[in-house]
Amino acid sequence: MNADPILAPHRSIRLFSPKPLPDGTLERLVAEAQRAPTDATGQMYSFVRILDRGRRQRIAVLSGEQQHVLDAAEFLVACADTHRLTRVLELHGRAPGDYPATGLHFAVIDATLATQRLIDAAEAIGLGTVCIGGILNGVEELVELLALPRGVLPLFGLCLGWPGEEPVARPRVALASVLHADAYRDLTTAEAAADVAAMAPITRSGDWPAVLARYFAAGGTMEAREPALRRALDRQGFAWR
Ligand SMILES: Cc1cc2nc3c(=O)[nH]c(=O)nc-3n(C[C@H](O)[C@H](O)[C@H](O)COP(=O)(O)O)c2cc1C
Repeated sequence: MNADPILAPHRSIRLFSPKPLPDGTLERLVAEAQRAPTDATGQMYSFVRILDRGRRQRIAVLSGEQQHVLDAAEFLVACADTHRLTRVLELHGRAPGDYPATGLHFAVIDATLATQRLIDAAEAIGLGTVCIGGILNGVEELVELLALPRGVLPLFGLCLGWPGEEPVARPRVALASVLHADAYRDLTTAEAAADVAAMAPITRSGDWPAVLARYFAAGGTMEAREPALRRALDRQGFAWR
């Protein structure tokens, strides 16, 4: 098996130089994002570019005071968006369907594929990026702040700018842990231990399970985010009963 890299390695950047992007660069990157595949021709995503300094500061606070949110030359909020196509349907005399779960499923995929293409294009011209899931901590206020209509849900932020650091590529679990043959195969204990060892350098403590637990264990950040996200899903038309 040849697992030699094909692309230049991706690294999230959290230290940015204050230099702005050349005029038109952001638009070129979004045009690249638009070339991403999209389900059923729907293009179910929108990016909100945050130009206003006060708005950026508020989003930095909502995201847990992350300095790179303030320092990056550009900040986008990537949104799932079934609103725009609903408008097209309505303007053309068609009643929109009722598909909150399916809409969420495909809109998250569309938004993520488009954003990944934007990230790849940004890195290809020497820019650095980091996704900001921290925006979820203030998801309800963000819906208000960005005036998001029903059918639009903020997913994550994206900092974009000139790198002020050159971090080493961060580790990943073994290829065999993510690539299954014909059917899902659970990790063996030995494979799990090897993954934990491989991931140790991504944490200051060297204890990846402790990091996972902070987010995903009972009482962790993910659970804490549930109530507000469920309310936002409901309000934005992505909830079902
Ligand atoms: C959906 C998502 C949300 C993320 N949220 C944050 C965040 O709020 N703050 C941050 O500094 N990095 C964030 N990251 C970046 C990850 O921490 C980073 O991708 C991971 O540690 C692997 O490092 P690498 O991207 O350098 O390979 C996020 C990444 C993704 C995909």
